[in-house]
Parts: sequence; structure tokens; C-alpha cells
Amino acid sequence: EHAIAYKLKQSPKVSELYAIPGNPGIASLGTCVPGSVEDNEFIVDFVQKNQIDLTVIGPEVPLCNGLADDIEKAGYKAFGPQKKAATLEGSKAFSKDFMIRHHIPTAKYVEVTDFEKACKEVDHFDFPLVIKADGLAAGKGVVIVENKEDAISTLKEMMVDGALDGAGSKVVLEEFLTGFECSLLCFTDGKTIVPMVSAKDHKQIFDGNKGPNTGGMGSYSPVKKITSEIIDEAMNEIMKPMASAMVKEGVPFTGFLYGGLMLTEKGIKTIEFNARFGDPEAEVILPRLESDFVQAILDLMDNKPVELKWTDKVSHGVVLASTNYPASSTKGSLITGVDDVDGLVFHMGTKMTDEGLVTDGGRVLMVVTLEDDLQTAFDHTYKELEKIQCKDLFHRNDIGKKDM
Ligand code: AMP
Ligand code: GLY
Repeated sequence: EHAIAYKLKQSPKVSELYAIPGNPGIASLGTCVPGSVEDNEFIVDFVQKNQIDLTVIGPEVPLCNGLADDIEKAGYKAFGPQKKAATLEGSKAFSKDFMIRHHIPTAKYVEVTDFEKACKEVDHFDFPLVIKADGLAAGKGVVIVENKEDAISTLKEMMVDGALDGAGSKVVLEEFLTGFECSLLCFTDGKTIVPMVSAKDHKQIFDGNKGPNTGGMGSYSPVKKITSEIIDEAMNEIMKPMASAMVKEGVPFTGFLYGGLMLTEKGIKTIEFNARFGDPEAEVILPRLESDFVQAILDLMDNKPVELKWTDKVSHGVVLASTNYPASSTKGSLITGVDDVDGLVFHMGTKMTDEGLVTDGGRVLMVVTLEDDLQTAFDHTYKELEKIQCKDLFHRNDIGKKDM
């Protein structure tokens, strides 16, 4: 949300910027309004009282709660998919079923709601096996297991013990894909679909892609391996057919459509769709956008051609996360040195107190730099983030390293 607000604010079309609830980073760009992103009534009331011309919905929870529907019903502009279209992210089973129905390349899968049945289904897959909670789980709902014992205990945690707040009462078992993973985000209203520049997330918690999945520990853009031919192929085989199929099924998708893609030996396959800007992709993609972000959104909504201009510079960013993330987060640990950073610092989970800036979440800050090449940006980001001091923060040391 901070990255989105930062780019919105650069538009000459924006006279005032409000964020609900915002964070200490966004507070330097506009007015933060206390309130919950899950309170549709409050948000619609705010939009009406303040005559908000355009609401850009960031996170998945309000999208899946139908916030775009409610703002539009009140007669105001919202950029983000309606509730039904956001189900693409809100339910992995819906998304997989949709892809298979429309021949969008993706991994083989089975959907199960019963623990005993799930345990039996495990025998129909090879290892590693991918187990996905059906519902929203803040990037923590996917577990890759190496053997039957781990499969059963993961299924038990999700389906019987109620881990992930019930998001795993239904699960998807999925074939493990090997290849090169990348993210391709698009602006779309269903009819028009325009790709952004490629980005690479680093989902696992530890260096060398080890440990459990997180919301994302760092990213960079563009990805050298993702040539314009590959982007064309991904658009023609996956992103365009998906946008058209959603229109055909009466659930047109307006907003940022995120494709998590795997370049396999058998072509490009879809790992997942998200119904919003990826995080930490937004923090490296949006700083590269040179043209007017707001104009692009408005043009798309007005059925006009969308023009995007990007810098050739490489952006690189590293997330500073709470010590025990993703298992737990911290609150209240003092953070210093943010203002000394020569680069962009996006706030993810911070809070301003009388003592100063403190941690307030799992992923806390992200430091991003833009340079002529990945190596220079890598060196620069890692130099700058040493200036941030906090006893409870850690980061990966190898974001982008494998691809240099
Ligand atoms: P998702 O939330 O579906 O993107 O899954 C989180 C991460 O798990 C992905 O970014 C991949 O790194 C990994 N993953 C998910 N599905 C698969 C799959 N079918 N094969 C291999 N890796 C996967
Ligand atoms: N970076 C992946 C996501 O936002 O879900």
C-alpha cells in the first residue's frame, strides 16, 4: 500500500491522498484515516463525505469482502476487482477449477474437504507435493512436503487443527512444478490487458530458498530471463485468455491481475493468480513506472488506450522482517536510521509512537534502490539497509543473487 500510495502521489492529477488506515510511511504522503479496511460501510461513508474521485483498493481481504462492489454501488469509482472476480485469489479451488475449465496451463490438482479423503489422495501424487489452503492465508497457506508423513501432518494442521484460521478447511493438493518462477502483473478491465515489467519474488524465509514460505522476503525487476518473447507467450497463453474467460463467465476482472508463473520445460504454467498488486513486487515495479499511474488507471476505466513508460534501471529490494516471522511477528521494538537511507524505504508493519518508529507486524520495512544493473542495485540495497537498526529485525542476504 505504501508503494501504491507513493506512485499515486506522484501523479499531477492527485490533489489529495487519503489512506485507510495507512501507516507511518504513507503518513508522509497524505492523510491517514484510522479505520479498518474490512469495514465497507465506514469506507463507503468516507468516500461519499469526502467526494473521493478514485479509490484504489490494495489488499486482498477488502477485495474479497466486496469493497469495490460497495463503492461502485454508491456511485463512486473504485479500482480493484469486484467480490466475485476477487475469488480468483480468495479460493485456490475456484481458481484452479476456472483455469482447467478454460485450458489455462497450470499444475494438476485435486480439491478436498475431508481429511481422510485428503490422506488417501496423497497417494496419487509424487513428492515433493504442494498442499494449499483454499482460503486467504497472507502468503502462508502453501506448504511443500517431501514425504507422506509430512503431508499427513500438514493436512491435519490445516484441516483438523484449524491452523490458518480455517483457511485450510478445504485444501488443494497439487503437482510440484519445477522451473524458473516469476511474477507478471497486468492492468486490466477484462477487455484491455496491459502487462507491467517482470519481477521476481523470493518467497522462502531463508537464504538459498530454504525454509517455509512467507509473504515474500525481497524482489527485483526486471528479470533478465523474462524476455519480451516470454512476456508475449505468458500474455497469449495465460493472462489474456484468463481476462477474456472471466468476462465470458460474467465476472470481469478490473484491477491489477497478478500472475505467478513457472517457466517449465513444457512451457509456462500458472502457479497462482492474485487479485491485487503483489507484495513485495509493488515495491520494485512501481518505482520503475515513469508515466502517470493515475492516468493509466483512469484510461483503463474509461476504455481508452493505456500507455505505460518504464525506466530501464533495475530495482532491487530487501524486506526487513521480525525475528520469528513467519511463525510470529513483533510489536513495539524501536527502529532507528530509516531517514539515513539513500533509497526508498517502504513501510509494511510499522507504527509511530512517542518513542519513535517501532515494529508492528511480520514484514516490517522494505529497502529499495534503483541502479543501472542488478549487481550495483544489490550492493546498494544491502549497504543502505545496514543503516537501519532494530534488535528484532532480520533479512535475507541473497535477494537476486542467483540471477546475476
Ligand atoms: P502460491 O501462494 O500459490 O503462489 O504459492 C506460494 C509459493 O509456493 C509459490 O510462489 C511457489 O514458489 C510455491 N508453489 C506453489 N505452487 C507450486 C507448484 N505447483 N509447484 C512448485 N512450487 C509451487
Ligand atoms: N508476492 C506474492 C504475493 O503478493 O502474494
